[in-house]
Amino acid sequence: MSSELITSSSPLLLSNALTFLFGLTAGVTIYSLLKTAQEFKTPPQSKLIPQNSSTQQTEYIKKRIEADFTISRETLLRVTKQMLIEMKRGLQSDGQTLKMIPSFVTNLPTGTEVGSYLALDLGGSNFRVCEILLSSDGSRVRSRQKKFVISEDLKQGTAEKLFDFFAEAVGIFLKEVLGESTDEFNAEHKKLGFTFSFPVQQTALNKGNLMVWTKGFTVSGVVGKDVVGLLQEAFKRKNLKITATALVNDTVGTLVSHAYTDPQTNAGVILGTGTNAAYVELVKNIPKWTGGPVTSGKMVINTEWGAFDEEHTVIPFTKFDKKLDRASNNPGKQTFEKMISGLYLGEIARYAIVDLMKTGYIFKKESLSESLLSKPYGFETAYMSRIERDHSKDLSDINALLGDIFKIFNSSLEERSLVKRVCELVGLRAARLSAAGIAALVTKMNKLDGCTIAIDGSVFEHYPHFGNRMRDALFELLGISAENIDFAQARDGSGQGAALIAALAEN
Ligand code: BGC
Repeated sequence: MSSELITSSSPLLLSNALTFLFGLTAGVTIYSLLKTAQEFKTPPQSKLIPQNSSTQQTEYIKKRIEADFTISRETLLRVTKQMLIEMKRGLQSDGQTLKMIPSFVTNLPTGTEVGSYLALDLGGSNFRVCEILLSSDGSRVRSRQKKFVISEDLKQGTAEKLFDFFAEAVGIFLKEVLGESTDEFNAEHKKLGFTFSFPVQQTALNKGNLMVWTKGFTVSGVVGKDVVGLLQEAFKRKNLKITATALVNDTVGTLVSHAYTDPQTNAGVILGTGTNAAYVELVKNIPKWTGGPVTSGKMVINTEWGAFDEEHTVIPFTKFDKKLDRASNNPGKQTFEKMISGLYLGEIARYAIVDLMKTGYIFKKESLSESLLSKPYGFETAYMSRIERDHSKDLSDINALLGDIFKIFNSSLEERSLVKRVCELVGLRAARLSAAGIAALVTKMNKLDGCTIAIDGSVFEHYPHFGNRMRDALFELLGISAENIDFAQARDGSGQGAALIAALAEN
């Protein structure tokens, strides 16, 4: 164990104190200079590449990619500090990088909520309709659910098409899954929670305007509109008499749903197709709140941290990140999300692998144009997981994957190890940045002495070593205090959270 890990005061706090002493701007400048000197020592150009052995060349190339993707502890500390700065700005006023949206959820559940609720959940690629029963003994039962895939057409289509699709899905669920006619249902279940996992400026617990699309959606006619209003209109068109009583972000749903069984839960984080976090803030720390007094004195804030560092002040941005951003349908936006979340990790790795191919370092005899590697988003994050899981001596599963999926039939062990290294570095960077965000949340909430962070999403759940890499980074940032922070795997919390919030709304 390094001495950093056993220090009792948090490095983050020490670094904050240093910044305070030097003055914020000066501190940042000193850090920038250090960063330039230490992290961007790019190895010499190709003419100096050792030519004597392929192993030496591979090691050399690995070092080059490592220099691109490695985030040092110093930079990570700066990321956390900058996140704290952007969080405070977002609480101060609208129009900041971190939107810090008050969710209108001012109480966490007590475990005594009861009733039957309908929950709709639009995440990244699926739309789920669930019936959730909250039972009187405090345990929750989600009795039934149905998943509907959102096609690319719907993601790029019109508001009417998308919301009609939701209403039709609800109709199908009522008939096929609950076996009820819509009339019976209308008579019985009136309460609905709508999880809509995009940046929404809430104006009430069941009202909010979409600010901007993320995660590859570009549906027209929704930005600036109340999404609950659009849903209600679609229900009307389909003759469904259902009223949405809560509009919820998935992070808020995850937090609330986990708090139902673990009262230590103070934050909900999504590390999936997209990324974001919500946490419990004191109303007195939200200067922009104009909604009047809040009895509990608390408010769940949807940070929308996916937009962190859109001004590029702190995270080293590689040429691969630049390419991805430029080619995306929201250039300049969601900088943090594009380095962390499942929609993008595979694409960053693809750019790095294609670069190695184009510069002739790997797969010299293979055709890029015939490989799925040449297709945008053809290298899915799930393949990175599979690659990272191959611990065989000859990396045989990577060989199989390269042949079966990418039509790369003749790879050497060294080439495969380079591909694996790219994946490890992209995955490691994502985990470290996620931890830096969590360190900021915990510091902001003043919970270094202990709290639970409920985390959901495919990257956290399925990407190998992701949680452990986050833990290691959290230790680098918070020292021994990191032991007080519990990462709890939350599953399907967002829909259940929406039902709970609908239940809370009645009390
Ligand atoms: C959205 C957030 C959402 C996150 C995780 C982001 O793209 O902006 O609202 O919570 O994805 O689903």
